[in-house]
Amino acid sequence: MKKNLTVLMSCLFAIGLLAFMPKNTFQEPWPVPDAYKNKVNPLKGNAESLVTGKALYNQHCKSCHGAKGKGDGPKAAQLDTDCGDFTKASFQAQTDGALYYKTEKGRKDMPSYKTKIPSANDMWSVVNYMRTLK
Ligand code: HEC
Repeated sequence: MKKNLTVLMSCLFAIGLLAFMPKNTFQEPWPVPDAYKNKVNPLKGNAESLVTGKALYNQHCKSCHGAKGKGDGPKAAQLDTDCGDFTKASFQAQTDGALYYKTEKGRKDMPSYKTKIPSANDMWSVVNYMRTLK
């Protein structure tokens, strides 16, 4: 009888621990259609676009992705999904078109910016700015 109680207490303890575990520390694969993957960035290397990109990033993205893109913005803790880390090599290894696609479409907690950032050049500017966060 006493042993059963010990088992029960251990289970409750384990469940309690689970509740305090960090949320998804990995992201599900997010496939990008080839048409986007291979999109040419018309503002590649354009220094002026970084000024626009930074302003848009601070306005729209920083609250979740954090000032340095590490995914530690003030809103990040309330989300069900991990925001990712823009400073990681695996993130930076994606094409400009892939970053454009994900920003435009969104997924789950990640909003779609198709209507909030309707200009393609503004979108590429944000992509260029994400490239500086490494
Ligand atoms: C409300 C919080 C929130 C805001 C605001 C937000 N994001 Fe996200 N973002 C997320 C989350 C959560 C994910 C992960 C989504 C997933 O994997 O399903 C994500 C994922 C991404 C990814 C893909 C990351 C990867 O590892 O491939 C990119 C790119 C991205 N966001 C760009 C942006 C940009 C650019 C902005 C601003 C224009 C922005 N996000 C604003 C929450 C946010």
